[in-house]
Amino acid sequence: MCDKIKINLVVNGEPVTFEVQPHVSLLRALRDNYYYDVKCGCEEGDCGTCTVLLDGIATKSCITLAAACEGHEVWTDKGLGYNDALAARLQAAFVECGSIQCGFCSPGMIVAGVHYLKHGGKADRRAIKRSISGNLCRCTGYVKIVDAIYKVAQEIERGALA
Ligand code: FES
Ligand code: FES
Repeated sequence: MCDKIKINLVVNGEPVTFEVQPHVSLLRALRDNYYYDVKCGCEEGDCGTCTVLLDGIATKSCITLAAACEGHEVWTDKGLGYNDALAARLQAAFVECGSIQCGFCSPGMIVAGVHYLKHGGKADRRAIKRSISGNLCRCTGYVKIVDAIYKVAQEIERGALA
């Protein structure tokens, strides 16, 4: 068993220190520190349910070493919902569009959608599908997830959202 190391990072706007073994993923470090909204699926980089924003970029936390996140900024779906108007609007749109069934994929899908919309993503269904191509859903068939991101993209284009 390796000795634990301390890593300092900012999660959902709060400075935190995690004590982790050097091989531990960011996903495991987050969940060991009660960030349970970051879901644990395949842990192999395939399903996307563990997606967080790492310095603003949608990132699969299961294939990111926690130790590599020293000094970096992480946002989870829950933290975004409380602190970011666009993310809160997208969460609401997921409800309005019926984009959630079991909900296991939803945090990762929403983080991927936030990344898309914050990087100038348009109301373009094909581009939206590409933006969530790293995220799997076993329930909804994706159409309603795309609908929710499309709806918010339209609102941004109309100037209804900053
Ligand atoms: S748990 Fe990270 S991609 Fe599946
Ligand atoms: S809503 Fe169940 S996996 Fe997507």
